[in-house]
Amino acid sequence: MRIILFTGKGGVGKTTVAAATGIKSSQLGYKTLIISTDPAHSLSDSFQKELKPYPTKVMENLYAMEVNVEYELERHWNTIKDYLTVFFKSQGIDDVVAEELAIFPGFDELASLLHLLNYYEREMFDVIILDCAPTGETLRLLSVPEVAKWYMNRFFGIEKKVLKLVKPIAEPLINVPLPSEEVLNKIQELYIKMSKLKEILESEITSVRIVMNPERMVIRESERAFTYLNLFGYRVDCIIVNKIFPREAGDYFTKWFELQERYLEEIKNRFPLPIFKIPFKSTEIVGEKLYELADELYGGEDPTKVFYSEKPMKIEKEGDLFILVIKAPFVSKKELKLLKRGEELIIIAGQWKRIVFLPQSLALKEPVEAKFNNGELRIYFR
Ligand SMILES: Nc1ncnc2c1ncn2[C@@H]1O[C@H](COP(=O)(O)OP(=O)(O)O)[C@@H](O)[C@H]1O
Ligand SMILES: [Mg+2]
Repeated sequence: MRIILFTGKGGVGKTTVAAATGIKSSQLGYKTLIISTDPAHSLSDSFQKELKPYPTKVMENLYAMEVNVEYELERHWNTIKDYLTVFFKSQGIDDVVAEELAIFPGFDELASLLHLLNYYEREMFDVIILDCAPTGETLRLLSVPEVAKWYMNRFFGIEKKVLKLVKPIAEPLINVPLPSEEVLNKIQELYIKMSKLKEILESEITSVRIVMNPERMVIRESERAFTYLNLFGYRVDCIIVNKIFPREAGDYFTKWFELQERYLEEIKNRFPLPIFKIPFKSTEIVGEKLYELADELYGGEDPTKVFYSEKPMKIEKEGDLFILVIKAPFVSKKELKLLKRGEELIIIAGQWKRIVFLPQSLALKEPVEAKFNNGELRIYFR
């Protein structure tokens, strides 16, 4: 079983690449499902076929579905939402605001993850591909299991049995509506599912692939995503750079070639992973074109392969020091130079250069020391 998530800024080509990956995967004989959450239904457009909110056959071995968020919300969340609304109102919060607050952050995305879990557990497919929402949303989505834990512990950190006993006595005294058994059951059910999801998403069967274009803003957003994905413990196994202008594009694009070349170099410095490139095609990539892309993409390799399995970066804590641990097998400390520029850390060691986008927890601190250990560079922040 293999799970592949595609993320990236809006419009970079996530849906296109997810569809092409699915085609190749199914051609290699893997029974493949593509799940899309995009409310614009662009997966239907890509395949030029109407898709349903359940697996719809596209071709031999290939199935695709588009998640219907309203329906999912109704199905999984209504009981809890009703309770939360009452709770927030009891705290003197305005009706409309209470309704808003009661919507779990990232629920729409969670719906597609719940489908993923469902099809994973039923073992119906060899490969499941998730065409995710734009980067920021995906990060929120992947932190949902963490957020759920927070809710469970802080908000509902009360034993169900105890709650049943104290509810009739406590409720009038503290003037706070306590959740009913039905609500608690529902929350518990969701919580268990999210814990399972987290386990699957962090395991080695899951890879995240970042799709980007050689453009400044896109690279910035992708870097941020890359850093946070690493921190959350998800494995990014390759980068896909889409929409690269081919030389045949002609003189009009001369400036673009140079610019894109510079950005491609920057991408190499910032993402220490396998990088696959896709040229800007002469028309949009739908129908037949999608099959061509399926053949080109991944340089002829099996698209379900794990292209990279190391975790290139993590953060540890020792006393009041934060340590950024980076894989840097060829570096020696003698020639090391560290430069911190706002949210960026630039590491230069001879020919080797890496630019790391720092998470909030480190961006406000200063690097005070660096050490080498088994091909790992440990940078201490205070
Ligand atoms: N390499 C490419 N060359 C030409 N058009 C492309 C290429 N990649 C994607 N497109 C087109 O760009 C548009 C956006 O792509 P899409 O995959 O929907 O992006 P996303 O899912 O990231 O929002 C679509 O019309 C698609 O056909
Ligand atoms: Mg899309």
